[in-house]
Amino acid sequence: MRKKVIAGNWKMNMLPNEAISFIEGLSNKVENAKAEVILCVPYTDLFYSLLTAQNTKIKIGAQNMHWEENGAYTGEVSGAMLKSIGVEYVIIGHSERRQYFAETDETVNKKVKAAFKHELKPIVCVGETLEQREAGKAEEIITTQTSLALEGLTKLEVENTIIAYEPIWAIGTGKTATSEDANNSIKQIRNKIKQLYGEEVAQKVIIQYGGSVKASNSKELFETSDIDGALVGGASLKLEEFEKIVSSAGKPC
Ligand code: PGA
Repeated sequence: MRKKVIAGNWKMNMLPNEAISFIEGLSNKVENAKAEVILCVPYTDLFYSLLTAQNTKIKIGAQNMHWEENGAYTGEVSGAMLKSIGVEYVIIGHSERRQYFAETDETVNKKVKAAFKHELKPIVCVGETLEQREAGKAEEIITTQTSLALEGLTKLEVENTIIAYEPIWAIGTGKTATSEDANNSIKQIRNKIKQLYGEEVAQKVIIQYGGSVKASNSKELFETSDIDGALVGGASLKLEEFEKIVSSAGKPC
């Protein structure tokens, strides 16, 4: 059985002192959680967050990285740099990066490969716009984004990739996909992975749902057959709310 993975995406929020008190507050509350807990924080919070999260259940991730190891790329941060301070996860291809920072399926693929090269676990985001959904193209969009993101990876790497299905129309809007719709889309993604990499790999890949996940809807989402957790934006900035989302993914046995 796949475990549940709950990842917070703080986006461009939280100063280091806020990050430290959040992590201190969260760590004992999630100590016995069944789900894996990750916080993807801004670059400026990474080091403080890693220190504060030491010896706790909370893992720390970044929200982006460059695919090159080093070089003349002003303002960029490489996978090697993230790894050097102890970062474990990295979000790749979030829709906000695709939309505002010109990320393409090609750059997403390069970043995923570079993440594995530096032993970082990528959380790869895919998702359709409302227009694409209404035109009946959602499945085609999300399965294509998935296969292009994973192109050239080994089966083992695919198994270790976390995919976050985030319909763009549900991000930060308060609109959540129904648990049935979200589960169906995630099944389509899993099916694509099965076609490309086989049943065993497809059954192991963690596929999260993201888009206005909150404490009031998380349990229902997590009870479906294929949703393996969540990538949480707004609600991950509120300690109590985020803690409730983590516990809704299962109490310890
Ligand atoms: P949201 O964001 O939970 O605020 O909708 C999710 C995300 O963008 O990852």
